[in-house]
Amino acid sequence: MQLKNDLLLKAAKGENPERTPVWLMRQAGRILPEYRAVRESVSGFIELAQTPELAAEVTIQPVDLLGVDAAIIFSDILVIPEAMGLPYEMVEKRGPWFPQTVQSKADLKKLRIANGVDDLSYVIEAIKITKKALNGRVPLIGFAGAPWTIFAYMIEGSGSKTFSKARAMLYTQPEFSHQLLQMITDSTINYLKAQIDAGVDLIQVFDSWAGILPPDQYRVFSLPYISKICDAITTVPKTVFAKGAFFAREEMAKLNCETIGLDWNMGITESRKLIGESKTLQGNLDPAALYGSEKQVEAATIHMMNQFKGSRHIANLGHGVYPDINPEMVKIFIETVKNYK
Ligand code: CP3
Repeated sequence: MQLKNDLLLKAAKGENPERTPVWLMRQAGRILPEYRAVRESVSGFIELAQTPELAAEVTIQPVDLLGVDAAIIFSDILVIPEAMGLPYEMVEKRGPWFPQTVQSKADLKKLRIANGVDDLSYVIEAIKITKKALNGRVPLIGFAGAPWTIFAYMIEGSGSKTFSKARAMLYTQPEFSHQLLQMITDSTINYLKAQIDAGVDLIQVFDSWAGILPPDQYRVFSLPYISKICDAITTVPKTVFAKGAFFAREEMAKLNCETIGLDWNMGITESRKLIGESKTLQGNLDPAALYGSEKQVEAATIHMMNQFKGSRHIANLGHGVYPDINPEMVKIFIETVKNYK
């Protein structure tokens, strides 16, 4: 189906869109009271994510209510471990928790490589419903976690400040680590291909815990697997967002992807120099800037836009929007990007 608003795809492909497209990481499900109302009608996040009609509804809310130039399918990066045989729970106010974790080669035998269509049919169904309901208004973004970030949760069993168990594993059991990373990579490729077959227009890989690895470990245990994913996905544009991986920007420029996401610590001019002109850059306003006044949000957004000006850019925050941000301030960010000349 022809898209009525294809700014995001044009920007990703470097095709000079009429204006800079804008969307927000974590736009679906964190800030909108309308989201909370839907969530309260079910037992919790997991039921919501596994009910395709509701997942589609909350995916579209930010398009209707905030005016973003793209929708991102409502799901989570942790559906992959679950599809591989390692279920998770979402603990209220604490985040994800895995009753079992993976610690040894013996544990790998209990896992399988996920088949995106069968093991994640609820996400695939949600994508189909969303595409139909969007009716070409804006593109739909599919996503997955990067293998290293997923590995970190599967070993650690929950969020962590240091992910020291996961990091230790790379030193104590490198061969096991590579085996698990490869299984996650194969599952992720199957999953992203199934998302594309169901209709997503662009995909993003989130390496949320990139920044906790030293550069040499990142080169061995994360980048090669992201690279395999990029090489395997050939039919839609790809974005790689590696939070904290400022040290890997030059290598990321060589990835087979169209867009590199910048977090708010990455200087814009410096990143453009390191990455070159051949990639689109996405980002990168500090999410905390949205706690400011209307005037401050506007000024911070214009300051960001000025630094990107004239080069390939998709406007976004430097990480996910925080849950207690006032949606009115998000609207000011979006409107300021749209009116920027
Ligand atoms: O725009 C969107 O929000 C789309 C859906 C989406 C969710 N998670 C829904 C969600 C996306 C793109 C994600 C990605 C995700 N999940 C990442 C990568 C992006 C990032 O922020 O770095 C990571 C690391 C996770 C893992 C995860 N899921 C955590 C740590 C938590 C708990 C804290 C939090 O972030 O809210 C989740 C839960 C989660 N994922 C919720 C939602 C809407 C909140 C669950 C609830 O409603 O209780």
